[in-house]
Amino acid sequence: MRAPRTPGLSVRLKFALSYAGFVMLAGVLMLATVWVYLLRGLPSAASSPNGLVPIRTIVLHAYAPAAAGVLALLLVFGLLGGWLLAGRMLAPLTRITDATSMAANGSLSHRIELEGREDEFRELADAFDTMLARLEAHVTEQRRFAANASHELRTPLAITKALLEVAFNDPARDSGELFRRLNNVNARAIDLTEALLLLSRADQRSFTREPVDLSLNVEEAVETLLPMAEKHGVTIEASGDITPTIGSRALLLQMTVNLIHNAIVHNLPGRGIVRATTGIHPGSVTLTVENTGEILSAQLVSTLTEPFQRGTERIRHDHAGVGLGLAIVKSIVEAHDGTLTIAPRPGGGLHVTVRLPTAPPPARPVKPIT
Ligand SMILES: Nc1ncnc2c1ncn2[C@@H]1O[C@H](COP(=O)(O)OP(=O)(O)OP(=O)(O)O)[C@@H](O)[C@H]1O
Ligand SMILES: [Mg+2]
Repeated sequence: MRAPRTPGLSVRLKFALSYAGFVMLAGVLMLATVWVYLLRGLPSAASSPNGLVPIRTIVLHAYAPAAAGVLALLLVFGLLGGWLLAGRMLAPLTRITDATSMAANGSLSHRIELEGREDEFRELADAFDTMLARLEAHVTEQRRFAANASHELRTPLAITKALLEVAFNDPARDSGELFRRLNNVNARAIDLTEALLLLSRADQRSFTREPVDLSLNVEEAVETLLPMAEKHGVTIEASGDITPTIGSRALLLQMTVNLIHNAIVHNLPGRGIVRATTGIHPGSVTLTVENTGEILSAQLVSTLTEPFQRGTERIRHDHAGVGLGLAIVKSIVEAHDGTLTIAPRPGGGLHVTVRLPTAPPPARPVKPIT
């Protein structure tokens, strides 16, 4: 809510008044100079046959009304000129203000598109247009996300309903099979909800930062996922020395698990290879996860971090993932001020690099003064 403001003069009026003020000041100075120099050259009185004539007084009487007339003219000129000039100069501001109120009322598609050469107003209008475009894109993305999330959350509920209806209509059916399927659907709904919660946690950046060794994360993730890799017939090669960064230990572990999990499940069945490497560079550390797999187009790969994007596999697998794994990775990386690069490998599969800021060296213990 905007705090109530006391009404004041408009900028246009202030500008016109200042302009008139300056014109008047210049006029007064000019007239004063003329008067001073005129006065200096004149004798104060001259003698005539009728006695002494006060020359200065006579000239002053002639000069003063003319000077006052000129000043009045300058005042009118200054006010009018200032008003018109200010109007012309402030016109772009009116357009910017109109666009701001439209945006405040919810219309984000309007743009100012100020014409003319580069100046301060043009810069402001362009910056405002850029801000509106980003805001609009963000809102559209949020709406799409909400629609997708609701759709995904509805699916397990709809399946549960269908399963229960079938069971009600046919009480003689095998209830063991029903429970197994209900359990699967329920587990999937829990996974989805947990992934959504994780995503919002990473987006809010509400976590404490502590020193984290990425190579330890890789070790831990590989250990957790080894049974799954064996089931898929995938070999995991992990390498890398101590790789210090700063962040949330739990979120960075989740990021590593998601990447290695993807590298296992979206791999060639029976003969896949996953390579997870950590490395230290000047100012940054990296985690690279690459895997063999199907040949992927650069265009498809560029969409994979979007929430609920599942590549091509949705059609083939009835138990496909939620499609949030890489979206979560992206959010976690961004929340840690890092960058995520995903590229297709020429022979098939994916090459993912996470670059994070390196941890500052630990503070040296302060020597007590003896
Ligand atoms: N390492 C990878 N190699 C090949 N394709 C991959 C890899 N990682 C992700 N993909 C593709 O990107 C899609 C999106 O991945 P993401 O992790 O976001 O979702 P998901 O694995 O399908 O589901 P989940 O939310 O359960 O992780 C996958 O469906 C897959 O097609
Ligand atoms: Mg995944």
